[in-house]
Amino acid sequence: MRISVIGCGYLGVVHAAAMAELGHQVVGIDVDAVKIARLDAGLPTFFEPGLPEILASSIASGRLRFTTDVSAVSEAEVHFVAVGTPQTAGSDAADMTFVDAAFSSLIAHVKPGDLIVGKSTVPVGTAARLAEQIAASAPDVTLAWNPEFLREGFAVQDTIRPDRLVYGVPDGAAGERAARILDEVYAATVAAGTPVIVADYATAELVKVSANAFLATKISFINAMAEIAEATGADVTKLADAIGHDNRIGRRFLNAGVGFGGGCLPKDIRAFSARARELGKGEAIAFLDEMDKINLRRRARVVELVSDALGGDVTGKRVAMLGLAFKPHSDDVRDSPAIDVALRLTEEGAHVVATDPQAIESARLRAPHLTYVSSAEEALRDADAVVLVTEWPEFVALDPVDTAAIVAGRRIVDGRNSLDPAAWRAAGWQYAGLGR
Ligand code: UGA
Repeated sequence: MRISVIGCGYLGVVHAAAMAELGHQVVGIDVDAVKIARLDAGLPTFFEPGLPEILASSIASGRLRFTTDVSAVSEAEVHFVAVGTPQTAGSDAADMTFVDAAFSSLIAHVKPGDLIVGKSTVPVGTAARLAEQIAASAPDVTLAWNPEFLREGFAVQDTIRPDRLVYGVPDGAAGERAARILDEVYAATVAAGTPVIVADYATAELVKVSANAFLATKISFINAMAEIAEATGADVTKLADAIGHDNRIGRRFLNAGVGFGGGCLPKDIRAFSARARELGKGEAIAFLDEMDKINLRRRARVVELVSDALGGDVTGKRVAMLGLAFKPHSDDVRDSPAIDVALRLTEEGAHVVATDPQAIESARLRAPHLTYVSSAEEALRDADAVVLVTEWPEFVALDPVDTAAIVAGRRIVDGRNSLDPAAWRAAGWQYAGLGR
């Protein structure tokens, strides 16, 4: 099929490359000329395992190209809109500027019979509003909403073999045709047994935000238990293992620590709350505000643990920060707990020396005044305290005995509860985790 993808950020690039990998003819479009030039040369604009390979092979095969010229959409019959919906400055609501701009420019170039497919995460009600706009200027064009559930670090796999496909379509023949076209787009995925849920627009939009709200709630739930564990001497990691054996609960996403960050969970729960308030239903999901607060409290707690380890005053102390990305296998530092913790410690007078296997350059753009070094060893050298905030395998694998020989003080705060406390203590370390 001939496909266009509007928006070549994280989601759009992965989607465009994955669609080409599935055998389609794809054009990726973005207003950022620097980004497009890089992508068209086969160079990813961010770190994502597996992406360089499919980008290079799709471009080499001639199935994928990138351009800034939106009129290129006329080469395609299915148009995915994958632009960002960040948090609006000074408000919890999603910023719809990019979605609205993408639709306006796209509508000017579509042909009768084309299908527009929204992928961006949007406030419920957006698809219905955009469908009206399309009906007014391009009446023979149908809109579908097809949310994505990809996880950074597993984005390629999650796009090609997702847990489920959700199609939000209008009622009647146009909706049936839209679902058939999407089945054709995802033919290989559907043939592999991926469940397909066909729904109305509002349900499809809500599937996306409620899934992220549920995941955020699960993480904040265990972090709330960590707070209770801290007050009682219980171990939240064992608690999570024990309750996780109940299949109804499940162990995944029950890792207590510094909490969730990234470009999705934090802003999505805030945008969902803002939308619910607009609908007069703020009360129904008021608990999400509480989840947000629990999450942010964990960042403050990590700062407090570092300060406690250093006798209550971090001034002039050298703190090795292991990790900057919001999670491992990513270079994304959007709303990263690590950056937040680093900035707070710096504000309190510590000298933070940070490292990350992939995220130093993106962190430097957000926090230029922090000290960055390219290896864990350099960060650890002469450190008075160590704080692990992103559980990259190489940090988790650090040997407590070897590490003890490099630092100035054997104090470690395990912000992801991913180290073995007994092993670190046995090597003479003062170990502090969250809720354990
Ligand atoms: C999340 C969802 O998991 C995806 O399904 C969704 O498609 C995506 O948002 C999106 O909306 O685009 P992602 O942001 O890549 O994916 O990251 P997650 O793996 O969900 O992790 C989010 C944060 O939670 C990370 O900071 C991670 O360290 C933290 N986390 C995760 C915990 O603190 N504890 C856990 O047990 C699990």
